[in-house]
Order: sequence, then C-alpha cells, then structure tokens
Amino acid sequence: MTLILNRSEVASVLTMKDCMAAVEQAFRELAEGTAILPLRTAITPPNGLSLYMPAYLKQMGALACKVVTIYKSNPAKHHLPTTIGKVLLQDPETGNVICIMDGGYLTAVRTGAASGVATLYLARKQEGQVAGIFGAGVQAKMQLWALTEARKLSKALVYDISNEAVKKFIAEMGPKLNLEIVPAASADEMMNTDILIAATSSANPIFDGNKVREGSHINGIGSHTPNARELDTAIVKRSKFVGDSYEACFKEAGDIIIPVNAGEIPKEHFYAELGELITGKKAGRENDTEITLFKSNGLAIQDAATAKLVYEKALAAGIGLKVEI
Ligand SMILES: NC(=O)c1ccc[n+]([C@@H]2O[C@H](COP(=O)([O-])OP(=O)(O)OC[C@H]3O[C@@H](n4cnc5c(N)ncnc54)[C@H](O)[C@@H]3O)[C@@H](O)[C@H]2O)c1
Repeated sequence: MTLILNRSEVASVLTMKDCMAAVEQAFRELAEGTAILPLRTAITPPNGLSLYMPAYLKQMGALACKVVTIYKSNPAKHHLPTTIGKVLLQDPETGNVICIMDGGYLTAVRTGAASGVATLYLARKQEGQVAGIFGAGVQAKMQLWALTEARKLSKALVYDISNEAVKKFIAEMGPKLNLEIVPAASADEMMNTDILIAATSSANPIFDGNKVREGSHINGIGSHTPNARELDTAIVKRSKFVGDSYEACFKEAGDIIIPVNAGEIPKEHFYAELGELITGKKAGRENDTEITLFKSNGLAIQDAATAKLVYEKALAAGIGLKVEI
C-alpha cells in the first residue's frame, strides 16, 4: 500500500523542532559519508523546468526523490502555482514506494530547518537578539520560525519591496510565533540586528555588506544560480563562510561563485560544510565579533529526512489515504 498525503496533512504533523533534528542528522550523515546525494537533474520542457532530487540516508533509512517543477506561466494560464513539488518515499529494504506526499510545505519547513541548525552552531548564544528578515514570502516565514526555535529572540524586523507582503507576513507570523515583528523602512535599517536572513527572489545583492554589525550571523537561502546573488562581495569577504555543500555552492551559488570568479576571494574562503560543524570536525562560531554566514542551496537529503519523519508521524496519527497502485 502507498500512503498519499496532501499539503494540510503534511502540515498537521510537521513541526520545526522535529524537522531541525531530522535535518541535523541528515547533514551529519552527509559529513560522515553515509549519505548518497547525486546532483539534481534538470529537464527543460517547453514551458518550464523540471528538477529531480534523489537522496539516500543509510543510517536514517530514508530513500526519496523530490520532483519540483517551475513553470512561470502557470498562475496566469492555468491557475496553478509557479512551483509544484511532490516527494516520493521508498522503503530502502524493498524499493517499494511507501508514500507520495505534497512537497511545497515540506520544502519550506526543511529549508527553514537547515537555517535553524546553522543558527544553532553559528549565531551568538545570547538571549534577546533581534532578527532581520529580508523577504516576506513563503520561505521567509519558515526561516523566522526556525530562528525562534534556535534562539530566544526579542524582536524581528522584516523588509520586502512589497509592502503588501510585509503586512501579511506580520499578521500571520506575529501571533503564530508570539513575537514582536515590525516593518523596516529600508535595507539600512535592517542593519540594527544580530541575525539576518536573506530569503528573497532578488538576483542582485539586497544590502550593503559593509554595514553589517560585527558578531552578526546571516542565513542566505535565496538565489541559487551561478549568475544570481543576494549577498554582495563585501559581506561574503567579511564572513566565515559555511555552505550546505561545497559542491552545490560552487555549482549553484552566485553569492560565492561571482566573487571567486572575479578574483575577489579565493575558493578556500569556503570554510566548512554545515555537516562538518555538526560532527565537530570544524569549529562553529569562535568569538562574539566574527561574522558568520550560512549559504543554503537546498539539498535532497533535507527532503528525504523530512519525508521519512512526516511518513512516520502520519502513520502514527492514522492520517492520509492508503491506495494500492
Ligand atoms: N535554499 C533553499 O533550499 C531554497 C528552497 C526554496 C526556495 N528557495 C529560494 O528562496 C527564495 C524565496 O522563495 P519564496 O518561495 O519565499 O518566494 P516568494 O516569491 O514567496 O517571496 C520572495 C519575496 O522576496 C521579495 N523581494 C524580491 N526582491 C527583494 C529585495 N531586493 N529586497 C527585499 N525583498 C525582495 C519579493 O517581493 C517576495 O515577497 C527564492 O529565491 C527561492 O528560489 C531556496
């Protein structure tokens, strides 16, 4: 039997706290060599892009493949979202497909979770820090949720080029996280913060890296093509640079590829993969003044670990539709 889970069923069992634990374990496996993570495969049908993201985590027993499509004309032409994702989970013992679940909400939570885990290892430990969120879209909400799991924040500032998005963000996330969230009038105002999140759809740097305060931590999760970047050379240069994967960063992240290709920083500026901080091979934050930066491109191991978690919780809760395919 195959269990089918829709978006609301996935959301009903998936918490950020549990997802952070699963994603942390996935990055540990990646660092310890027990994960199989082929690069994502892209196919370009006439109207869009179709991505296939497989992964296997041996210790967790998670074998999965996410299929994500990006069709920009979908909303106008077909009343469908631009991005559609589904995750197919298999039993590693038999290969049988045991679950097919919606991947939209799952992706946002697992992306938040990776930043949450990075924040645990890289942000200063003090309570009452202020977060600054660039972008008020789907990902940004989950990014802030993850930050509140990692650190006890006193307040958050949010900045987006769309005032409408900011209003919606504050109305939804303030009560949900029981946190004071205020709009910032400019990117400069966002510099009066301790932990920054870049979660926009911008292809160009969104703030002046020279203005970031010492001791800050930044999670950069947007742009992931070699020619696009949210972070400027100044902030990359000033930061201890941690990526989700070395390979993904140098294949997909303009944030580091552009300054390296311009000869502004050496490739060795890449300090560590997140998994190396988790296993203790490399140190996370070492003092209160360094600036730390986590660049996330999004890895299939995050999807596989989260899908396994969701499947087990759904079985325990008795939700979803069981079908013989
Ligand atoms: N790293 C990962 O694993 C991962 C996973 C999913 C999505 N993403 C990426 O995250 C980014 C955000 O995705 P989303 O689903 O939240 O998109 P979204 O469209 O819901 O939100 C993006 C927001 O960014 C705002 N924005 C654009 N330019 C800006 C600027 N210069 N300053 C401030 N705000 C600006 C837009 O107005 C919009 O509200 C995308 O680049 C997406 O590809 C990354």
